[in-house]
Amino acid sequence: MAKETGLKETIRRKLKSLRDSITEKERRLKSRLIKKNLFGLKEFKNANTVMFFVSFGSEIETINMIKKALGSKKKVVVPCVMKNPKRIIAVEITNPDTELDVSTYGILEPKNRTKEVLPGKIDLVLVPGLGFDSSGMRVGYGGGYYDLWLKNFSIEKRIGAGFDFQVISKIPAEENDLRLGKIVTDKRVIDCSTTERR
Ligand SMILES: Nc1ncnc2c1ncn2[C@@H]1O[C@H](COP(=O)(O)OP(=O)(O)OP(=O)(O)O)[C@@H](O)[C@H]1O
Ligand SMILES: [Mg+2]
Repeated sequence: MAKETGLKETIRRKLKSLRDSITEKERRLKSRLIKKNLFGLKEFKNANTVMFFVSFGSEIETINMIKKALGSKKKVVVPCVMKNPKRIIAVEITNPDTELDVSTYGILEPKNRTKEVLPGKIDLVLVPGLGFDSSGMRVGYGGGYYDLWLKNFSIEKRIGAGFDFQVISKIPAEENDLRLGKIVTDKRVIDCSTTERR
């Protein structure tokens, strides 16, 4: 196992348990602040089609972001995780209350996958993560799904979203890891393009 891989595992474990330890109230409160920062972003304002993720476990709460975006006439797409070959597809939703169902992975996904939207039609991708650093590096659950998916997008379209305590000084990078252009937290918006990778 490469040195980076082991380090990433340690970071994943630590940040996962930290995130799992916050209260529901805190999670809701911080998620509202993340929403405010996201909706204030010019890249977000200019985006017609936005890819959100549907929160799972202790991730930031995105349901209200999705509803607000739909209410402001944006097209919303969310990921469906596919096997063989391993990939993400983006599917349009118009009502998260009725169109989602728990997938085999335990994540809420569109029941009906007919409204697939190709990456070229997506203006901004909100990227989840267990950890981020200010150079735009991220660590997810370890599936490599987002790394594969993000190859379809230029860096300005990749926006990380997470709690501020998930931003640590350095995430070890491996060859396939892709950087984010900005990271939105409950405390700030980090412009990763102005930060040198240390
Ligand atoms: N573009 C890619 N092509 C092929 N394999 C990849 C690619 N990106 C990542 N992988 C593989 O996927 C596995 C997990 O990658 P990594 O540890 O970076 O996960 P992660 O970034 O935490 O997951 P995710 O992107 O799903 O949030 C690794 O074995 C990695 O080699
Ligand atoms: Mg990765």
